[in-house]
Amino acid sequence: MTLDIPLADDPHVTQPKSTAHILPDAQTVTSVRHWTDGLFSFRVTRPASLRFRSGEFVMIGLLGDNGKPILRAYSIASPNWDEELEFYSIKVPDGPLTSKLQHIRPGDQIILRPKPVGTLVLDALLPGKRLWFLATGTGIAPFASLMRDPETFERYEQVIMMHTCRTKAELEYGRELVENLRHDPLLSEIHGDDFTDRLVYYPTTTREESPFMGRITDNLASGKVFADLGLPAMNPAEDRAMVCGSLAFNVDVKAVLESFGLHEGANSEPREFVVEKAFVGEGV
Ligand SMILES: Cc1cc2nc3c(=O)[nH]c(=O)nc-3n(C[C@H](O)[C@H](O)[C@H](O)COP(=O)(O)OP(=O)(O)OC[C@H]3O[C@@H](n4cnc5c(N)ncnc54)[C@H](O)[C@@H]3O)c2cc1C
Ligand SMILES: NC(=O)c1ccc[n+]([C@@H]2O[C@H](COP(=O)([O-])OP(=O)(O)OC[C@H]3O[C@@H](n4cnc5c(N)ncnc54)[C@H](OP(=O)(O)O)[C@@H]3O)[C@@H](O)[C@H]2O)c1
Repeated sequence: MTLDIPLADDPHVTQPKSTAHILPDAQTVTSVRHWTDGLFSFRVTRPASLRFRSGEFVMIGLLGDNGKPILRAYSIASPNWDEELEFYSIKVPDGPLTSKLQHIRPGDQIILRPKPVGTLVLDALLPGKRLWFLATGTGIAPFASLMRDPETFERYEQVIMMHTCRTKAELEYGRELVENLRHDPLLSEIHGDDFTDRLVYYPTTTREESPFMGRITDNLASGKVFADLGLPAMNPAEDRAMVCGSLAFNVDVKAVLESFGLHEGANSEPREFVVEKAFVGEGV
């Protein structure tokens, strides 16, 4: 499927009478990978002028049947040094955007509004020793960006990626990403031989048997994750956290972090943790 979105600055494009269909923000899909029936990732060309901080999100979309853009917020999953942009997406069966987006192929075009924003950025946290990434489902996307950004490891001694999904298959995108990172010789050169110990991965499932099980909230509140990893309980002097998941998860995990004495911060007021929704609504 190719949208043939006319580029506003292309001299070969005849300007249509109505300006409604001129979309200056077209990018080309370079690869697509389907992970499960409900999850896929894809990469697109990056606008030369796009600068973003790892962890931010942009609006992306496709043209609807009525010729109007259907745009949704998407975390950029690639780090800010990457030549392309990567996204990790849910497939909502009747979702206005993802019912179409799940069919994209290399060579197709999508719309990408180049105005990155978001709270899950390193600058929104105070310096600390350990940085915890807490994600459910597609909420791992901003952390896929931050884990691949060398600055994350310049600022923190240890990064702990806690990712929880219902099934093992839903963890696979994150598992493969972490494994590739750990075996990247360039990163070991930059971050030292102990890089494997500095990037800690703690995946759990809640509806299928796997080596580690349970909700992130329960594993933090019970102290299980600290015991499993040989770490002290979270404390405001050493630990920082970023949260990205469903609204219910965000609310519950925020209460757990506050019980450890951490406070929510923002770009304008850096504190010990920051939160962002992985999607709006109650879930599909
Ligand atoms: C800041 C922000 C960042 C986001 N980043 C991503 C991202 O990186 N990847 C991604 O897949 N989505 C992301 N989303 C959600 C995304 O904006 C869309 O909602 C999603 O693409 C579905 O679009 P849709 O038009 O098909 O369905 P919508 O009409 O948008 O949603 C339909 C239903 O599906 C549920 N839903 C939507 N997205 C998800 C999801 N990711 N996981 C579980 N249930 C969901 C909604 O709660 C709603 O009930 C983000 C949302 C926000 C607010
Ligand atoms: N029918 C299916 O097979 C199927 C499969 C996947 C998704 N879905 C639908 O898709 C929607 C989105 O799915 P999703 O997997 O991205 O999101 P989700 O339902 O929010 O679950 C993602 C993970 O987060 C956990 N979780 C949910 N709420 C939490 C909370 N308040 N505190 C701590 N952990 C919490 C879940 O554990 P729990 O398992 O303990 O809830 C699960 O492991 C869901 O609402 C669901 O209806 C359906």
